[in-house]
Amino acid sequence: MSKHKIILLGGTGFVGRHLSARLCALGHEVTIVTRRRDRHRELLVLPTARLVEGDVHNPALLKDLFPGHDTAINLVGILNEAGHDGRGFERAHAELPAKVIAACRASGVTRLLHMCALKAADDAPSHYLRSKARGEAQVLAAADLQVTSFRPSVIFGPDDSFTRRFAGLVKLAPLMFPLACPQARFQPVFVEDVAQAYINALDQHQCFGQAYELCGPTVYTLRELVQAIADLTGVKTRIVGLSDGLSRLQAMVLEYFPGKPFSLDNYRSLQIDSICDCGFPPILGITPVRFDEIVPAYLGRTGAAH
Ligand SMILES: NC(=O)c1ccc[n+]([C@@H]2O[C@H](COP(=O)([O-])OP(=O)(O)OC[C@H]3O[C@@H](n4cnc5c(N)ncnc54)[C@H](OP(=O)(O)O)[C@@H]3O)[C@@H](O)[C@H]2O)c1
Repeated sequence: MSKHKIILLGGTGFVGRHLSARLCALGHEVTIVTRRRDRHRELLVLPTARLVEGDVHNPALLKDLFPGHDTAINLVGILNEAGHDGRGFERAHAELPAKVIAACRASGVTRLLHMCALKAADDAPSHYLRSKARGEAQVLAAADLQVTSFRPSVIFGPDDSFTRRFAGLVKLAPLMFPLACPQARFQPVFVEDVAQAYINALDQHQCFGQAYELCGPTVYTLRELVQAIADLTGVKTRIVGLSDGLSRLQAMVLEYFPGKPFSLDNYRSLQIDSICDCGFPPILGITPVRFDEIVPAYLGRTGAAH
């Protein structure tokens, strides 16, 4: 594998931290852009990483930073926006990819690895999934660049927000836990498998112009996942699945709680099962691990991930 000089947007996030560590372990030089450098000092120990503070939405910054790299990776994404009208999603998932394409072209960066989401589509029910589809369509249409996009189901790993959030929530409701959209289905995929997918695709010409779905080997309902998390953390709460109407109501209320623990847009995303037929594409040479092989090791009986 040749050594690359990589500009990484979203490198401080959950997936980004795992991918940065793997890229640096392989000797690639990685420039990670973040809004708050002081919050991500753990990345400074990576031997070939450089952490740069700045706003990735500023085209001038991108045009300054991109020269000298041969590859761009864009992992920036949000699960909730500050407002309610979809403009935040549009900015993060559709406008930013256009700026990344422009910066690649202006600086001669030819390889672009992008992060989309499983079931992103123009006619999807949520702003999240529609904006993700618009961003991916733009990068795949950039025929002068060597683009690969990834569409994972929910991603898990020791520092994920999915299992940690539910581990915290079930602890707060030790008797009865009201769960919205309990029948929504997922194929959880391990963060290290996702990071490896990026690495294995990096130099493969057959991956140019392709979008790959990334799913773990097992389909779970949300109820099954939350039950597993409760069991692993030793919480004996009874999970009560809410009807569709009550799920929507819960989203309408929690949308206005600090940090938006659950939103109408999340509820709409959950109307579509986040599952796929193929698991991992054979070209990536990865056999994805199962949720139940990994999660018990990091979700102890303390009620919180560690
Ligand atoms: N986690 C999952 O289950 C999952 C599933 C499917 C797809 N995805 C996609 O995978 C990508 C990575 O997910 P993740 O879980 O690693 O996300 P994450 O932990 O929330 O990290 C998001 C990253 O994006 C940057 N970012 C967030 N909002 C931004 C904004 N408004 N402006 C600029 N930068 C912003 C953050 O950088 P700073 O805060 O340092 O600036 C951070 O590095 C996202 O595109 C997500 O949609 C995730």
